[in-house]
Amino acid sequence: MDIQVKTQGIHGDQLDALVLGITKDEGTDTFFSIVDQALGGMLSKMFQFKEISCDFKNIQMIYTLGQMGVRRVILLGLGEKGDLNFETLREAASRSIKEALKEKLTKVAMILPGVLEDKGLEAQALVEGALLANYHFSGFHKTKEEKPELSSLTLYCEQEWEAEVKEGAKKGELYARGTCYARDLVNLPGNYLTPSILADKANEIALRHGMEIEVLEKEKMMEYGMGGLLGVNQGSVEPPKLIAIKYKGRKQWDDVLGLVGKGITFDSGGISIKPGAGMDEMKGDMGGAAAVLGALEIIGTLRPAINIVAVIPTTENMPDGNALKPGDVITTMSGKTIEILNTDAEGRLILADGMTYAKKLGADYLVDLATLTGAALIALGTCTTAAITNNEELVENVLESAAEAGELVWRLPAYKQYKEQIKSKIADLKNTGGRNAGTITAGLFVGEFAEETPWVHLDIAGTSWADKADDFSPIGGTGAMVRTLANLALKLENS
Ligand code: BES
Ligand code: MN
Ligand code: ZN
Repeated sequence: MDIQVKTQGIHGDQLDALVLGITKDEGTDTFFSIVDQALGGMLSKMFQFKEISCDFKNIQMIYTLGQMGVRRVILLGLGEKGDLNFETLREAASRSIKEALKEKLTKVAMILPGVLEDKGLEAQALVEGALLANYHFSGFHKTKEEKPELSSLTLYCEQEWEAEVKEGAKKGELYARGTCYARDLVNLPGNYLTPSILADKANEIALRHGMEIEVLEKEKMMEYGMGGLLGVNQGSVEPPKLIAIKYKGRKQWDDVLGLVGKGITFDSGGISIKPGAGMDEMKGDMGGAAAVLGALEIIGTLRPAINIVAVIPTTENMPDGNALKPGDVITTMSGKTIEILNTDAEGRLILADGMTYAKKLGADYLVDLATLTGAALIALGTCTTAAITNNEELVENVLESAAEAGELVWRLPAYKQYKEQIKSKIADLKNTGGRNAGTITAGLFVGEFAEETPWVHLDIAGTSWADKADDFSPIGGTGAMVRTLANLALKLENS
């Protein structure tokens, strides 16, 4: 799809729809007047007769009937100007695109409302919102579903903003594409996204952006003593992979950010098997891996001057005669031993080796992402990601990056008292800490493998999958944390 920034053409351009945002206190800037005049003063008359609502996300469609090149003008309520920010604007943009697509209007333009200080950010919000709303997963129907999607997106803006707006639009496009890439991975069924296929996808990304990639096979894992990843893989017929990608944005390989993503391509629970209802959703148990790869897509294009090592341990978690059993004890690459009490607490086992391997490859600080605990859903629901850390500065950077991306993250305590819950009598750790504070104890378990390295854990079990559609996303993968990670990379470049 083609995205354009233009400073003129509003009157004559042949399009399906033109989105015109209107705020309560304003609404009469230059572009408004152009559209108003083209429609013979209809808009100002509608204002006069109080037939226009500027309520936030209110939509009114106006048929131009040949008075303009565009077929419909979509009046998009933006509420009070003072309430608008990157996030609300992005949401409103999404809303308007959803409405356009409902009416099969696919050649769409938006007028930059000019309400934010930073016009680049404003353009990013519009494009990001539009493309996120445009997303749907293709599926596997015999005859392809006919779902309308955007065929072109134009942004009209004042000439003085053109350069900023072009750059912001580009960034919005990249961020949305990275997010939708992650959504696709999460939405792919387990038989279409095995660990081997995930490794192929990672290879494509590395190749596309000239990044170094290494995929460890079982033999190498045995050599390294990766008993966590190998243990979880025991019950599966699909071979495990450990994907490691290096993005080198600096001359020296120092100050390396390690991103570790959980890549369980299907989680049956193993011998501690999950109940049948809803088990299909566990095809999305590689949301952490997807977030990391989605972010790499963005970073590979923006090329910030930082170093990143991305590590993705990936396997299925299945029950068979070879599977891990409750009571088993395994030894991880770090040397630490783990007593398995529940084979469904598998994410932390593969992350253990992922973290150790990221450190081996030079990670100086670590962010891990995982659909780790159902308890995260209980604690924070589906809109907020849980964070746990051992380092104030790093977590501040992550929280700021998330806020700038419009993604919700909330920090949970990491007091040492909680660690009592994961101590084992016969091994260094046990893999469940019981029902209480499940998200915290799982996070602290992973933190044991960060050791002294600054680390932030993001539990996206609630946020990586949407069980109902909203303005931004249909049911299924959301691409949570892709944009936060991309922002983090840009932030660390400047720190
Ligand atoms: N992948 C699940 C967590 C999950 C649950 C993700 C719901 C997305 C939605 C994880 O592997 C798991 O099964 N965790 C267990 C841990 C427990 C056995 C300590 C859980 O949360 O029940
Ligand atoms: Mn599990
Ligand atoms: Zn899992």
